[in-house]
Amino acid sequence: MICIPITASKVNEAIKDMKKASQIADILELRLDFLRNIGEKSLKRLLSGTRKKIIVTDRKNRLNLIEEAIRLGTDYVDLDISIGEKLIKKIIANKNKTRIIVSSHNYKKTDRKEVNQIFEKIKKLKPEIIKIVTLANDINDNLIIFDLIRKARKQNKKIIALCMGERGEVSRILSVLFGAELTFGCLAKGKESAPGQIVAKDLKNIYRIHKLKGNKVNIFGLVGNPVAHSKGITVHNKVFQKLNMNNVYVNFLVDDVGSFIKSFEGIISGLSITIPFKGEVIPYLDKVDPIAKKIGAVNTIVKKNGRLTGYNTDCAGAIKAIEEHIKLKNHDFVILGAGGTARAIAYGIKEGKGNLIILNRTINKAEKLANELGCAFGSLDIQFLNVHCLINTTSVGMFPKINDSPINRKLLKKMLVFDVIYNPKITKLLKDARANDCKIISGADMFANQAALQLKLWVGKNVDKNYIKGMI
Ligand code: ATR
Repeated sequence: MICIPITASKVNEAIKDMKKASQIADILELRLDFLRNIGEKSLKRLLSGTRKKIIVTDRKNRLNLIEEAIRLGTDYVDLDISIGEKLIKKIIANKNKTRIIVSSHNYKKTDRKEVNQIFEKIKKLKPEIIKIVTLANDINDNLIIFDLIRKARKQNKKIIALCMGERGEVSRILSVLFGAELTFGCLAKGKESAPGQIVAKDLKNIYRIHKLKGNKVNIFGLVGNPVAHSKGITVHNKVFQKLNMNNVYVNFLVDDVGSFIKSFEGIISGLSITIPFKGEVIPYLDKVDPIAKKIGAVNTIVKKNGRLTGYNTDCAGAIKAIEEHIKLKNHDFVILGAGGTARAIAYGIKEGKGNLIILNRTINKAEKLANELGCAFGSLDIQFLNVHCLINTTSVGMFPKINDSPINRKLLKKMLVFDVIYNPKITKLLKDARANDCKIISGADMFANQAALQLKLWVGKNVDKNYIKGMI
């Protein structure tokens, strides 16, 4: 179930928001503490503002309002454990049909011992639902909450449990799959009632938490830092939906990739790996595909029979995009940049027997990579270029600096120009190339190719590259 908190500061605005929220949510939470002026009369108006069920919550713990909500017959009230066990017991004894949620919040951390103690403490009060919310300081904190949900379910106790904050975002999607009663999603960005809340529409339309079937869901995700900008959640979840698969793809914001892999390998089915972990993740895998090993970078992990294997689909995705236009063998290529992406593509070009020059702002890095691969190198500051294909792997021209280009337009003549950047799809470099009658390849092609290859590795299905490209 998705619950949308109503966080408006005026009653009229709250009623409008309740109408909008009712179209998406299964249940609404009326946050009285967000309202500037709230009395018994306006509470009555608010409680009749929707046909959906309502949880009344007042983090200011105003007893008169809570008692009034119960008297008006609201579906649920949320009582924070901080109001005292004696009072909670008294309210529970006189509550009529209203169901009681007893909640605990830790805005600083998630501690396994502490959450288990609180669970026992709340359980003794016998509310209909136990709610425990903590702040995640590390991605592994989410596992403490998932274990707690599993434990509650085993004891037939209803629970709402999740982690707040950016590192807890995954719990807002996955907690319901482990058996939590509901998850909170905000009506719109800026209307969050707690940090890390995902927009309710996305919980429904992107993550499809309604459609996923509980503990049989296959969990996939992107591991990186940062991860928020990624298109992966849109692409992979849409493909899973199209294929009618009980799979979900989430963003894991990770600080220590080794500890993440050890803790999460039990619950994941496959992973995408991005900056800065493509190299760092290798020692934690059971097996690494020979190409990924040579490149020294893994961007895809597949779990089969409990074993993790690493692959690199960046290289194959880029090479496939190039080979739709020209062959590699005996053709001349120049790569701008000498980072991780340059390395993967350079390896593919050398494997295909193409001739290669690496140009980079920091010449030492170009030299190092060129020596490793046995090719030429130079700086970005060149006056003449005669190659069949130019590939930009630097971040120059990426959103928001969309008017920058890594190279002078005059150098772009009679060549294929490939920019790995996909935001924007057509960069300044590609615009210049087009204006000079060069053929172009957008980073969207490489992204779509590598995503299609990942999907093939994870679920064995061929997905049309153009279908993926249309979503980028
Ligand atoms: P990735 O894994 O995406 O390749 P990376 O390893 O951080 O990312 O590499 C980024 C590349 O973009 C590097 O080649 C970098 O050049 P330096 O080695 O000189 O840092 C290049 N790059 C980033 N910003 C740049 C800029 N403003 N001008 C030129 N090159 C730039």
